[in-house]
Amino acid sequence: MKYEITTVRGRQLWDSRGRPTVEAEIELAGGAVGRAMAPAGASRGAHEAIDLRDGGEAFGGFGVGKATAAVNGPIASALRGRDVRDQTGLDAVLEELDGTPAFSKLGANAAVAVSLAAIHAAAAAEGLPLWRYLAGGRKVRVPLPEVQIFGGGAHAGRRTDVQDFMVMCPRAPTVRRAFEITADVYRAAGAIMEETGRLAGVADEGGWWPLFASNEEALETLAQAIDRSGHKAGEEVFISLDVAANELSHGDGYRLPLDGAELTSEQIVERVAGWTARYPILSIEDPVSQDDMAGMALATERFGRTVQLIGDDFLVTNAARVRRAAAEGACNAVLVKVNQAGTVTSAKAALEAARELGWSAIVSARSGETEDVSISHLSVGWDAGQLKVGSFTRSERMAKWNELLRIEEQMGAEAVFAGLDALPASVAASHR
Ligand code: PGA
Ligand code: ZN
Repeated sequence: MKYEITTVRGRQLWDSRGRPTVEAEIELAGGAVGRAMAPAGASRGAHEAIDLRDGGEAFGGFGVGKATAAVNGPIASALRGRDVRDQTGLDAVLEELDGTPAFSKLGANAAVAVSLAAIHAAAAAEGLPLWRYLAGGRKVRVPLPEVQIFGGGAHAGRRTDVQDFMVMCPRAPTVRRAFEITADVYRAAGAIMEETGRLAGVADEGGWWPLFASNEEALETLAQAIDRSGHKAGEEVFISLDVAANELSHGDGYRLPLDGAELTSEQIVERVAGWTARYPILSIEDPVSQDDMAGMALATERFGRTVQLIGDDFLVTNAARVRRAAAEGACNAVLVKVNQAGTVTSAKAALEAARELGWSAIVSARSGETEDVSISHLSVGWDAGQLKVGSFTRSERMAKWNELLRIEEQMGAEAVFAGLDALPASVAASHR
């Protein structure tokens, strides 16, 4: 049977931060091969699946010898002989084999590489591009990109408190056009940094390193860059922020060192609400920390009707957390990072839980990435509507944007850009 798994191989390769990572390769009886690499976060949620590292002296403790051995040993033995098309079954085997709630035994880095390699192998066996295999004949859209212009927080030595200053072009006719506009804004932002003596290289995800005196100065500079690019802020180009407020948690509240502020949960929500009133902000991620349900519910009540409110560390790609948040009136969108969940099946369950609630969903990369382009295919094949990859430089980012352009081309006349429709309905309606 051509779909039968004959070999599962794990190997240690390197990610975009020069740290070890796991690659898994699955070979089928029919000769098809699928391969995928695990990404790695820097600003991680306490509730996400465990990225297993060897510790000790070698590679600064970031070695993945144990996770790689898990792929070559127990995982390979358990998956050999199975039908690769049974993704749910394969992922259930991974979960049983691990037996812990957060993949702390095998490592979510081992699990995610294997789980993704399986969908690649299955698509290859069917002779289909991965996105088309995942779509299974359903009509799917080209996602709206969220692209970073300044990278701060844990990705830039905490140079700004807010982690990502991004743009979105939901009114572009195509993703191709959205990228052209984004490239203009990125270039204009770089020119402003250079002219004002603030050019200091790029952060982990390729966005400009943010030499600003306050978080609001970054917003102001981004608004200027949009103006300078010749595109209209609040019409063609909108701002999106990932506050990544987990990293700002301090005692019962929040500390924003750049702004010299110590804030309560209500106060950080008010500060972010002020930004949404003064700038054309369309999306906010993690304005409060992972367990601050009251803060997230307050943020959703304050600006969730006109702004997409994404839970990243807050929801950790977990369907149960998505439902719990919804029951409390918190968030209207989920960030989907397969390695937060550990498997393709549970990541998809989080996305489907969000969809049932009328929320939007954003498939996302991590700050530590590789040339792996699986997420471009997931975002299309699952019809997520949105994709977040980092900035518009550096090949571990550009590989994913470029793959999206290839997919758009494969779709031909069928290609539909998700645009404004990718947002929660009330948010989209408020900007039409
Ligand atoms: P991380 O950051 O990969 O370092 O967690 C990405 C994000 O917060 O969206
Ligand atoms: Zn985030």
